[in-house]
Amino acid sequence: MPQMALRDIIILPDKRLRAVSDPVKTIDKEIRALVDDMFETMYAAPGIGLAAIQVAVPKRIVTMDLAKKDDSKEPRVFINPEVTWSSPDKSVYEEGCLSIPEYYAEVERPIAVKVKYMDLDGKAHEIEADGLLATCLQHEIDHTNGVLFIDHLSKLKRDMVVKKFKKAAKKTATPHPQEQPNAHEL
Ligand code: NI
Repeated sequence: MPQMALRDIIILPDKRLRAVSDPVKTIDKEIRALVDDMFETMYAAPGIGLAAIQVAVPKRIVTMDLAKKDDSKEPRVFINPEVTWSSPDKSVYEEGCLSIPEYYAEVERPIAVKVKYMDLDGKAHEIEADGLLATCLQHEIDHTNGVLFIDHLSKLKRDMVVKKFKKAAKKTATPHPQEQPNAHEL
């Protein structure tokens, strides 16, 4: 029985968050163990989405669970996810990120996207998503490309956040809030 483990989530301004992740070629034991750990880490945070690079593994893997708090879990895994179509219509959603804890901002993105990906059995899928799923997929796929949600904000706002986290990183070890507000950290 493989042992699941919590992994450390890396936090802004960690440069590894800017890495472009590599595609997964073979879904082997190591990848399955990583996915298990990602779920454990994501649920513990708690967050609704996590990209492998957030636990410092530069592979194109995303875990997600958009189920409401008291509903049963709906774990989803996206391997090598890729946006194949974006709607011209946009919407605004307040986003957060486990790698930028306790910071939230409104981000404008396409309302709907088509995403192709592989499941854990290596089977290819393409889905059309809207609402929170579309937002979350775009946020996480951005992570696999080294892009953060603050990159979608004005330069002024982005610079302020980066400065704040640089300062915090200097002062202490990485901030690790135990209590997350009841919002979506992706
Ligand atoms: Ni994020």
